[in-house]
Amino acid sequence: MKGIILAGGAGSRLYPISKAYSKQLMYVYDKPMIYYPLSTLMLGGIREILLITTPEDQASFQRLLGDGSALGLKLEWAVQEEPKGIAQAFTIGAEFIGGEPVCLILGDNLFYGPYNFFREAIRGFGSGALIFGYRVKDPERYGVVEYDASDQVLSIEEKPLKPKSNFAVPGLYIYDGEVSRRAARLQPSPRGELEITDLNRAYLEDGQLRVNRLGRGIAWLDTGTTESLLEANSFIGSIEHRQGLKIGCIEEIAYRMGFLDEAAFKALLETLPRSPYREYLEQIAKDETH
Ligand code: G1P
Repeated sequence: MKGIILAGGAGSRLYPISKAYSKQLMYVYDKPMIYYPLSTLMLGGIREILLITTPEDQASFQRLLGDGSALGLKLEWAVQEEPKGIAQAFTIGAEFIGGEPVCLILGDNLFYGPYNFFREAIRGFGSGALIFGYRVKDPERYGVVEYDASDQVLSIEEKPLKPKSNFAVPGLYIYDGEVSRRAARLQPSPRGELEITDLNRAYLEDGQLRVNRLGRGIAWLDTGTTESLLEANSFIGSIEHRQGLKIGCIEEIAYRMGFLDEAAFKALLETLPRSPYREYLEQIAKDETH
């Protein structure tokens, strides 16, 4: 399966910290934000990834990640000229997708916990669309799923004033090869965007949408507001500090997933500046070989 990370958007709710550079380049504890969604795709075994950024920020993202070969990945790049909605990722990425199944993750969404839910979703994915439902206290900030008594999805609404449930749709979506064609048929919403919720609704109307509920043991954090950004920083910091293990460490994941062999991993470490980050990775290299 291929992956797309959408790191567009104006980050307007974070103004003025988002004025000079992209939100997804800001740090979450000890790494740039984009490392976390990238690591989610990697943990799902996805190695062929399209990164969609704003035109202004593309060079900075490329400085950070390059062509991905150092991590055993194949990264491709595209721009979203204007923040015209999440579903536009599938028309921008139509050629990259090439009619194959694809997983989209938003560049500001962080997942932490057992990743089986994601691996199983990828493994068992047939056709149609597969999204997730996650319980939150403030569903009105998100896409919201309504279920009936037998857990069938009745509706999905974008940022409803009166949410019909507490289940929000996280920014992690899996679609079949039809997605670019479907996205091209969408009309812009009143706020002028191609809404991911409209795309999901189109699959729902055709009986092609599944919504898997995520258990409470999984943490889903977003970083769209200053409060949620601060919470994400302290959440990641608390767990890393307690365990002495890093979350979203893309070099470690590349090694543990077998995208890099031991020699390639060690060669990569040689290129990093002396830093606590490098020391952490050197310890991993040592632990694994002794
Ligand atoms: C977007 C989607 C929304 C989804 C959310 C997840 O909202 O429109 O359906 O629940 O991402 O982070 P936005 O971040 O654009 O407000």
